[in-house]
Amino acid sequence: MQSLSGRRYTSSNDVGRAMSIDELRAQARRRLPRFVFEYLDGGAEDEVTLRRNREVFEQLQFLPRTLVAAGAVDMSTQIFGRPTASPMMIAPVGFCGLLTRDGDLAMARAAAAFGMAFVQSTVSNTRLETVAEIEGLRRWMQLYVFRSRDSMETLVRRAEVAGCEALVVTTDATVFGNREWDRRNYRVGTDPSLRNKIETLRHPRWLREVALPGVPPFANLLDMIPPEQRTLAGSATWTRYEVDPNLDWARLAWLRSIWRGRLVIKGVLSVEDAARARDVGADGIVLTNHGGRQLDGVVSPMTVLPEIAARFSGDLTILIDSGFRRGTDVVKALALGAHAVLIGRAAAYGLAAGGEAGASRALTILHDEVRRTLALLGRPTLAQLGPDCILQMRERRFEEQIDGEQVGSEKQL
Ligand SMILES: Cc1cc2nc3c(=O)[nH]c(=O)nc-3n(C[C@H](O)[C@H](O)[C@H](O)COP(=O)(O)O)c2cc1C
Repeated sequence: MQSLSGRRYTSSNDVGRAMSIDELRAQARRRLPRFVFEYLDGGAEDEVTLRRNREVFEQLQFLPRTLVAAGAVDMSTQIFGRPTASPMMIAPVGFCGLLTRDGDLAMARAAAAFGMAFVQSTVSNTRLETVAEIEGLRRWMQLYVFRSRDSMETLVRRAEVAGCEALVVTTDATVFGNREWDRRNYRVGTDPSLRNKIETLRHPRWLREVALPGVPPFANLLDMIPPEQRTLAGSATWTRYEVDPNLDWARLAWLRSIWRGRLVIKGVLSVEDAARARDVGADGIVLTNHGGRQLDGVVSPMTVLPEIAARFSGDLTILIDSGFRRGTDVVKALALGAHAVLIGRAAAYGLAAGGEAGASRALTILHDEVRRTLALLGRPTLAQLGPDCILQMRERRFEEQIDGEQVGSEKQL
């Protein structure tokens, strides 16, 4: 399998041999049937946003400080006033049970070992009460808002009883994104085309581990789905219909009124919406474009981060995701004002390549990269990161100063 630079990656399936997230992605691609890999990897329509989510990082250049004693790097920080060993957390990824057996549990266990918070998807394949049994795991629950208020109240109560710290309400997927490449793999609905079924035979391990025991249902929703619709196809149709296309700020305010824990809005990309999130009583926001899976052509969260962080980081915990594949990406976001970064596909590639060991490998790679980046940047603690670490931000400030002086001198005239 070729790397991004055209050189060859390892042909081994041992996740311990993967040196980067992209190499884990290549291993995941070999292990998964094509239609499953596409579900994980693909984006909406022409995938313009999916590509932009990566390009944006290449344009940002570090400005390191030298001769800084950076031997002891400290990656610890605080999220919602509680200490955390890592500035990263696991993004909600639905249907992890399709990537590997008991995928949610494997991912959650890997997160716990790194002291990372785990955001469980509404459409995960493991009950949130089961994830709650994992010792030492900081757990948040992601919510797709359904039409039925009763269903919402039930889920919110369950999250509360299970001790979830935060509710993460996803607001950028009220209408399902147009993932044409994904849809092309199916004959109708959730039934893969004959070509895909035949291709699946080339992935005996996946067949043995995932398909043979039966593709798992949406465990958290099962009780709400009418019995006659509890098949895979039926649940998917039910869920799609139930997601409320009329979700609005009033509904958010209602959710705020029934949930006592931390409330995070996932789907903010504008200053105006950040202000409304604060005003409605949210504790945090996730700047995201859903990993390029929803609106194609939308801005990358990294582009809007500096302004939103500058205005709201005193009022809101600012989280970000979409396109993070390297420790350098994470450090760039933290330097531009994010409090923490949600890791989506980067961890899921590892999970798909090798279950819990693969997810752990992905998290090891990312943590090693963040640690090395902080040392090379001459900022061994997260508190030392700021916009001055990024060339473009210094240039912007320099231009503002020049403009300011010109405006000042014009006034004097
Ligand atoms: C396979 C897959 C499933 C996802 N499922 C959900 C979900 O159930 N709920 C949600 O809010 N976001 C979901 N997301 C979006 C992620 O939470 C996150 O925003 C996105 O993956 C970030 O982009 P990245 O993977 O390129 O880093 C999913 C993403 C992927 C790749």
